Amino acid sequence: MTELKLPFFGHGGDYNPDQWLDRPDILEEDIRLMKLAGCNLMSVGIFAWSALEPEEGHFTLDWLEGVLDRLHEAGISVFLATPSGARPAWMSQRYPEVLRVRPDGTRNLHGGRHNHCFTSPVYRRFVQRINRALAERFGKHPAVVGWHISNEYSGECHCALCQGAFRAFLKDRYGTLDALNHAWWTGFWSKTYTDWEQLHSPSPIGEESIHGLNLAWKRFVTHQTVDFIRAEAEPLRALTPNLPVTTNLMEMFGGLNYYELAAALDFASFDSYPRWGHGEAEQTALGAAFNYDWMRSLKQKPFALMESTPSQVNWHEVCKLKKPGMHVLSSLQAVAHGADTVQYFQWRKSRGASEKFHGAVVDHVGHEHTRTFRDVQAVGDLLPRLKEVLGAMPGAKAALMFDAENRWALEDCQGPRRDMRHDETVLSHYRALKRQGIDLDIIDETCSFDKYRLIAAPMLYMLRPGVGRRLEAFVRGGGTLVCSCPTGRVDEDDLCFLGGFPGPLRSILGIWAEETDALYDDERNGMRTADGRVYTCGTLCDLIHAEGAETLATYTDDFYAGMPCVTVNRCGAGRAYYIATCPDAAFLDDFYGTIIPEASITPVVCGLPEGVQATRRGNTAFILNFSGTAAEVALPQGVDVLTGEITGGIAALPVNGYRIIRLKSKGVDAQNG
Ligand code: GLA
Ligand code: ZN
Repeated sequence: MTELKLPFFGHGGDYNPDQWLDRPDILEEDIRLMKLAGCNLMSVGIFAWSALEPEEGHFTLDWLEGVLDRLHEAGISVFLATPSGARPAWMSQRYPEVLRVRPDGTRNLHGGRHNHCFTSPVYRRFVQRINRALAERFGKHPAVVGWHISNEYSGECHCALCQGAFRAFLKDRYGTLDALNHAWWTGFWSKTYTDWEQLHSPSPIGEESIHGLNLAWKRFVTHQTVDFIRAEAEPLRALTPNLPVTTNLMEMFGGLNYYELAAALDFASFDSYPRWGHGEAEQTALGAAFNYDWMRSLKQKPFALMESTPSQVNWHEVCKLKKPGMHVLSSLQAVAHGADTVQYFQWRKSRGASEKFHGAVVDHVGHEHTRTFRDVQAVGDLLPRLKEVLGAMPGAKAALMFDAENRWALEDCQGPRRDMRHDETVLSHYRALKRQGIDLDIIDETCSFDKYRLIAAPMLYMLRPGVGRRLEAFVRGGGTLVCSCPTGRVDEDDLCFLGGFPGPLRSILGIWAEETDALYDDERNGMRTADGRVYTCGTLCDLIHAEGAETLATYTDDFYAGMPCVTVNRCGAGRAYYIATCPDAAFLDDFYGTIIPEASITPVVCGLPEGVQATRRGNTAFILNFSGTAAEVALPQGVDVLTGEITGGIAALPVNGYRIIRLKSKGVDAQNG
């Protein structure tokens, strides 16, 4: 794999000059403004297919060469895009098979973005041809430092070609119809398949009730998207083996298994659009931080912040402006969590069509005398001063499990609640872990567990083969494992484990979960700890029996009052905790406040106030105040990277304030990436 190795922090954004080809004055002005804003990296040509191949087989690449030349002369590098995210109209008109088919069998009209079949050989041929043309012409252009392929891959196609590919995928996975029928439990409701041709993707006018089928389809969608990505990247990798390949990924996106997708990329890149200014700033900031930790963890490498808005978006229900200070703080937040670039959508506001009121660095007014431009300039000033952080990793010793396949299975599960609140639950653990001031990786069931001292795996409903054994080995080897209801219910095909839940984790957790009660949103139970503290909980309550585990808390209400709701099983050199319900924040704060020191994980900052985040990259700590109010923080010992001041005592952080500190001691957890 080719690495993304930038000699500087990337700063820039989506540059779509194909909108302005009749305005050379604007293109010239763009270069002046880019330099003025401290921009050095542009993503060029993302949806430019109509301008690159206006008629079938007729390529018009000269304008792009002109743009790349001008950028290079100005010292600006480029992620060169492939245009497959949107097709020209001539293609849909002449080759309708490139268009997507919906689950009900109707073919889409031309329009929108994406909207392409990921199996169609015709589409793949066109994509490879234009990508080859781009690579041949610009692969050695000195401005180009990487490939930005397509844009935010998502969606699925249910056409006959895709059904064929799905059947081939199933044959490969199951071998025989007998094996498939067993795995999907088709004996129930007379669903037995007797011919491969009977298999069809899930559809509201057909089969949606076989969970194994639904899961297999979601796996296929990832498989086929990755196959498409590999095909799309093939000419690029052949002609430009030194240029790293990425595509931009989305917040909390569940349509694809990003751990699988990331394997097809050289580096991860991410589009971040938090709802700053809406609701609690802390929650918004935590959501953003979670996504950044996820992106960095996908490849265990720094990532690119490929898109963010310098002011507002145009697609939130209500599009708030970033308040003063928020642009710098939110950009630093990405850097603090592992971004080696800060990029925007888009450089210059469109004059017309769908994104004309989406924030951009250069507004319709056309000059630099705007608040947004000054905010971008401030980031442009700051990034070069953080060079020591470039390429560094946090060396996290704790990890949170966020497994795409488990999420799919749990979301599709019927009972004991329609909404199991998987994402909220994972984020509630994230929040409590981050409140302890530690660095955190986001992992899935396939990741290595070796480097962690603590793994929190809330709602690990589905355990793929070997995961129970691997988690058991992790605990026996000294790790701390935290599981929560509902854990260990089904295998990789959504077949329930027989012989008592939590299935393969029953012995390491030392409990048996006999039944699970579901609570309405306005219902609560209570949790009483052995030392008499009381907390509340909701959503789901497992009725568990301790089988070797020690009970740490019991339910206070309902007919199961007195039964255990938090347990710990000491096993080998480690401990396995089970939280049988969904506790409120106060419990999780106290819980992780106890077990993180037990697991010998050193925080970046101790005693963080609410809304303040602390992370570390290499030997540099970032302390960011998202609380919306002034805050006081006990700074770690070191040197302020921006002021040179020696740090150590209590410091005041203003609203949206931050400190960046080169740490005196590396601490037990720090390491350079
Ligand atoms: C996405 C897309 C961009 C643009 C932005 C707007 O991230 O990749 O092309 O539409 O949203 O926020
Ligand atoms: Zn298709």
